[in-house]
This record gives sequence, C-alpha cells and structure tokens, in this order.
Amino acid sequence: MPIPKAELHLHIEGTLEPELAFTLAHRNGLTLPYTDVQDLRRAYSFTDLQSFLDLYYSLMDVLRTEADFTDLANAYLARAATQGVRHAEIFFDPQAHTSRGLSMDTVVNGLAAALDTSQDTHGISTTLILCFLRDRPAAEALDTLHQARPHLEHISAVGLDSAEVGNPPENFTEVFTAARDLGLHRVAHAGEEGPASYIWQALDLLGAQRIDHGIRCLDDTDLVAHLATTQIPLTVCPLSNVRLRAVPDLAQHPLPALMDAGLLVTVNSDDPSYFGGYVHDNFQALHTHLGLNGDQLRQLARNSFTASFLPPRRKAQLIAEVDAHPHPW
Ligand code: ADE
Ligand code: ZN
Repeated sequence: MPIPKAELHLHIEGTLEPELAFTLAHRNGLTLPYTDVQDLRRAYSFTDLQSFLDLYYSLMDVLRTEADFTDLANAYLARAATQGVRHAEIFFDPQAHTSRGLSMDTVVNGLAAALDTSQDTHGISTTLILCFLRDRPAAEALDTLHQARPHLEHISAVGLDSAEVGNPPENFTEVFTAARDLGLHRVAHAGEEGPASYIWQALDLLGAQRIDHGIRCLDDTDLVAHLATTQIPLTVCPLSNVRLRAVPDLAQHPLPALMDAGLLVTVNSDDPSYFGGYVHDNFQALHTHLGLNGDQLRQLARNSFTASFLPPRRKAQLIAEVDAHPHPW
C-alpha cells in the first residue's frame, strides 16, 4: 500500500473518468459528442488551462441528479483509498452546476452521501471546499455562498478556481471576508499560469491559508521568503502542470526548488482523470522523473497532513503513521 497522505487539491468534477461519463450520459438520456471512451480520451490533449477548462465544463453536463454526484464521489474515494489517501479536502464548483439549472441541494446532498460513508468504507476522512469561479461575476460568488449556508456542516473552506489570467483575487475580497465571518477556511488558486502578484493578493486580500499551485512564486524572491517564513502551504500538482503546459516537462518541474527554498510543499492530483494520474501516481512520477529520494517523498507525505485543516491531534496521529510506513512513498 502506498504511504498515507492527504489530498488537498482535488476537483471532484476532475475525477470524472470517461467510462463513468458514458454511463451517466446513458442514464440521463444524453448523447456525448464522442463515439466511445477512446474517442473521448483522444480529446485529453491540452495546450493551456483554458483548453482543459472547456472540456472539463462541457463534460460536466452528464451530472444531473444527486445519485450522479454520489456515484462520482464514491468512484473517486474508492480509487483514492488504493493510492494511500487517508484524508481528502475536496473542491467542488457549484456555479458550474447551478448555472445549468441544478440546485445547490442536488450537488451537495449528492456529494455528502458519498463523503458521509467514506471513513467507514474507505478509511478516508473528508470535507468539501466550495470553489468560486473567478471568471464569473463576484456578485454570483456572493449568491453562491448564500445558497451554501444550509450545507455548512459539510463545507470547511472556500476556494477560488477557473481561468486565472485576467481574473485577479482582488475581485473576490468581499466574498472571502463573508466566508471568514461564517467561520470557513480560505484557499485560492494563484500562480498556476498567473503572476506572483496574484499570490500576494490571495494572501493579503483574501486571507488565503493555502495557495493552490503557487509555482510562479519563484518569480518573486520576497514572496518566496514570505512563504518560507509563514509556512503557508502550496498545493502543487506536478502532472497537471505538465499536461496544461505550465511547465515544459516533469524533469524541469520547480517542486525541488520550492522544497529547497524551505516552503511547505504538498503533492496533489488536481483533475486526475484528465491529467494521467492520481496522487500516488504524482509521487511516483516525482521519483522516476525528478529523482526525489525516499526522505523527500516521506517529507511530502508528512507535509500533506501538516497543511490540512485537520485538528492538531489527528495530524500528529497521521504523521506518526507516515513515519512508521515501511516504504517512503
Ligand atoms: N478547475 C479545475 N482544475 C483547475 C485548475 N488546474 N486551475 C484552475 N481551475 C481549475
Ligand atoms: Zn486546481
């Protein structure tokens, strides 16, 4: 079994495997514009974030009912268990569904039905992170937060995702303040394709407690020093960065440089169905293509629990399990 770890950067809609997409399309009486699974997989060739998002949002159309969201999350959790995942803080994009006429209740109740049984079925504790789509208006994000209020027992944080460049964090200051006032944690995608200044904005204006991706911090030495001092975690997604061409190839991935700079780096899978691997596959790729050794990989597993929103005593228990694990990844 792979080493115990937490998954902190995982979009549940990005776990929709082609086989399940066809199953759900059939169940809902829809016809996909692909002849079969292989034909759909051939579309998984991306030139940048936007080219991926176009397919990601269009394929979500197969998600129509509570049962669809439950099946999606159950399929992810079953796979995650085989990858050593013991705790998952799972992103979802409600606006991608409410904008198609689904209700917040359908989405959250469907996901929660799977998450509620996950500890007993798979040994994985779970929580949801509600992401606002940064390429839609800030007023819509505020309305989305309002719609989520009856569901806060399942939601521990808010996040910010979708097309980054041209949609700076500063636009979402008000909704992040409102989320903080509701007792929610805050994270934000920043510095994936966008500039280091977006990371500063996420920290200073949104009160982000983790930065999702954050690889572009290396363009700003003051920012690297700040991240090292504060130990604000980065949720880095190596296979995603290669598939979306944020970095040219794995061998040139900046993850070792981020670790060498003393940052609290974690490894995550982002949208594993689309990017060729789940979280353990990302660990394996770091070993194979970047030469990370056992000590480094074990440290990354420890970091995943340190960077989580789990209570301190639970973090300590899980870190002890990492230390006791016979294999370092
Ligand atoms: N939504 C799903 N995956 C994403 C990513 N890698 N960046 C921004 N938004 C996303
Ligand atoms: Zn992401």
